[in-house]
Amino acid sequence: MMDLLIPDKTHDEGRQGEALMLKAETAKNNGRKLYIESYGCAMNFSDSEIVASILAERGFETTTDYSIADVIFINTCSIRENAEQRVRNRLKEFTVAKVKNPGLVVGVLGCMAERLKSKFLEEEKLVDVVVGPDAYRDLPNLIDRVDDGQKAVNVLLSREETYADISPVRLNSNGINAFVSIMRGCDNMCSFCVVPFTRGRERSRDPLSIVAECRDLFDRGYREVTLLGQNVDSYKYSTTGEDVITTNFANLLELVALINPDLRVRFSTSHPKDITDDVLYAINKYDNICNYIHLPVQSGNSRILDLMNRTYDRDWYINRIDAIRRIIPDCAISTDVITGFCSETDEEHKDTVSMMDYVKYDFAYMFKYSERPGTLAAKRYADDIPEEVKQKRLTEIVAKQQEYSFYRMQARIGRVERVLIEGFSKKSDKDYCGRSDQNAMVIFPVGENYKPGQYVNVLIERSTTATLIGKVVD
Ligand code: SAH
Ligand code: SF4
Ligand code: F3S
Repeated sequence: MMDLLIPDKTHDEGRQGEALMLKAETAKNNGRKLYIESYGCAMNFSDSEIVASILAERGFETTTDYSIADVIFINTCSIRENAEQRVRNRLKEFTVAKVKNPGLVVGVLGCMAERLKSKFLEEEKLVDVVVGPDAYRDLPNLIDRVDDGQKAVNVLLSREETYADISPVRLNSNGINAFVSIMRGCDNMCSFCVVPFTRGRERSRDPLSIVAECRDLFDRGYREVTLLGQNVDSYKYSTTGEDVITTNFANLLELVALINPDLRVRFSTSHPKDITDDVLYAINKYDNICNYIHLPVQSGNSRILDLMNRTYDRDWYINRIDAIRRIIPDCAISTDVITGFCSETDEEHKDTVSMMDYVKYDFAYMFKYSERPGTLAAKRYADDIPEEVKQKRLTEIVAKQQEYSFYRMQARIGRVERVLIEGFSKKSDKDYCGRSDQNAMVIFPVGENYKPGQYVNVLIERSTTATLIGKVVD
């Protein structure tokens, strides 16, 4: 008995001590202003909300004006060389602010921080803090160190960290759509990709915490959640103990869809090698799981896919597209494409073009191959496609995609789309904008009987390549 009491008591005292320290720290930071700017993928934007939450607990307030900030963080992306260049340019502006205000803390977070580690401090002398994606809980402590006149780095990657218990502070939010991170890291080793090095091993977050976060968002008026992971189809969480329950991505989609039929569920990114028919059936079964899948192909040629280490070939990808078309009638599909990967011939590039002809994607993100230090491709293959050739191939597929985006949009004319209103359109406050189930942007006149956060039925009358235009017919 005594033995049991002693550790309990110590634990309690420890907790009290922690609470006192937290209180002191909160008081110290009270009102200090945090400005945070994010680059890269949705995961980074979602992480910034976790960072804001961790620091809000310690008394920091977020600001959208960096000129009045006490702490400036830039959450960075390393995916392509030009992504890093953008960050460096922006960082120059922040470090100018630091020259004027030496007490200002400037920090680099995210993937570039992880890739360059303490080298960042050598290269950019005015940066004070460098923190990788798995070390954000350490931020208050790292800021303390900077306040004491030191530089601070924590780029440790973790096999467990999912920030499951942290309820993110929603930044720049419209109060309607929110990102919810369901897993972190990536275990695929696509040869071109830096993400496994910057984000570490794949791990899934407890489904109960995901459902709780989504339910809380719904209760606060949010109407759409986007579940995020580098490869959502390999989501897998097993409980510990005797009766082990394993939740896969199809199960998770159902759990979130069941929260409320008025909560739309989206997700990104699916991986062609892992997307199962069960996931497709789940999408089809629930009206509130949106009929939209982002399924990056990267290349339409099997030899290039093999060099990219994507672990599927052209036939496999086509089989997955056919399964989507069969199981989910009226599903929009988008993709990512890389042109000019190592040794890609004109003939092989044509296979990518013919894949676009086959799928007729609703939307595509297209990139020239950019060699990233440390990746398998950088080690094994020469980046031997001349810049002009990469560009020519890119221009060709961009033009092709324009045609198909327009084709998909035009096919909606005369149909009625259910739209979740997000706010005023960018161009005019006489129009609202919102997304259709298939993720198309829809514009329609403002009316008295509906407002942002509500669903309306919109008859589509015309379209551009990127937008549907119509009127409410409720
Ligand atoms: N996890 C997602 C992709 C994350 S990165 C997936 O597997 O699909 C987003 C996109 O950036 C990739 O799909 C790829 O098209 C592109 N990309 C990644 N590394 C790149 C590189 N080195 N050069 C050019 N594009 C790259
Ligand atoms: Fe990168 Fe491939 Fe992982 Fe996507 S699946 S993040 S492209 S390694
Ligand atoms: Fe960029 Fe890191 Fe996302 S490299 S694309 S911010 S995972």
